[in-house]
Amino acid sequence: MEKPTKRILSGVQPSGDLHLGNYLGAIKNFVTLQKEYECFFCVVDLHAITVWQDPKVLVNKTREVTAAFIASGIDPKKNNIFVQSQVPQHAQLAWIFNCVARMGWLNRMTQFKDKAGKNSENVSVGLFSYPTLMAADILIYLATHVPVGDDQKQHLELTRDIAQKFNNDFNTELFPIPEPLIFGEATRVMSLRDGSKKMSKSDPSDYSRIMLTDKAEDISQKIKKAKTDAEPLPQNKESIKERPEVENLISIYASLQDISIDQVISEFSGKEFSVFKKNLADLAVSKLEPITSEMNKLMDDRSYIDSILNKGKDKAISVAEPVLTKTKEIIGFLP
Ligand code: TYM
Repeated sequence: MEKPTKRILSGVQPSGDLHLGNYLGAIKNFVTLQKEYECFFCVVDLHAITVWQDPKVLVNKTREVTAAFIASGIDPKKNNIFVQSQVPQHAQLAWIFNCVARMGWLNRMTQFKDKAGKNSENVSVGLFSYPTLMAADILIYLATHVPVGDDQKQHLELTRDIAQKFNNDFNTELFPIPEPLIFGEATRVMSLRDGSKKMSKSDPSDYSRIMLTDKAEDISQKIKKAKTDAEPLPQNKESIKERPEVENLISIYASLQDISIDQVISEFSGKEFSVFKKNLADLAVSKLEPITSEMNKLMDDRSYIDSILNKGKDKAISVAEPVLTKTKEIIGFLP
């Protein structure tokens, strides 16, 4: 079997509206990486149902994530965009990985602990074994690189452990040990209301996040209301470490404008927050509005979206099936 050297897989859940964290931490980087890598971009609906999803909303959000990929600049002709549940090989390999991964490894996953909270007896089994499915998403394509936001780092370490253990247990070199690609000035975008919390789809406050579906006036309003402190903008990078909300807004600006945090600081240091926020709001609107309007246009053409996903599914299956067949042969399953 041919082993790729520069193949990417990454996934985004269709579990709610996409936000600025998803865009700056992941999707914007996908757009850059498509020039250099063979890419598989997956809408991970199997992961989404680890918590309850309204079926009518889920089907719509699955198309919406696809639209967001394309509207952000991912070329659907050159890359493979597809839906996880339409490629059954992911779930089949995930079962095998459930038997490779150790309970102790999964017990250490901080995302599970955060999501389950005090309710751990009552969450789905799928939420616990979520990272083994993620490992299967990646390794079923023998992907070598995985662009993600900082919050997925631990899941990627687990993926590497699973690949290594499978290879050792069965004395094979089938699976690559994939490299995370976590880069840019906004690898962890924080809530606009609380700089110690990640910007996330599940935060109850709408004002904590900017959505890719937000209108220009909502974006401006949310940035205007974003939490800051009484001091003006800092003079250097060191002094923002104790000011998480300030650091967050500066990182967002840097990432949207494709400049460094130092450059943002030198442009705005000593200025009032009202001035900075006005500039940030204008910048965010100018970068996000074209994406939102393209997403809306694409969402009006369901058959186009579905045709992209169908093509992506066929290609994904053609790559995943031989890897699954080989895996089964290695394990000792009848063909
Ligand atoms: P999901 O759907 O939560 O997020 C999609 C991508 O957005 C990144 N991200 C962020 N980046 C910066 N700041 C934030 N506040 C922020 N919030 C989210 C995530 O890191 C991710 O890259 N488990 C994954 C989906 C997945 C996957 C995979 C990813 C399933 N299979 C295989 C890579 C490879 C997740 O829940 O992403």
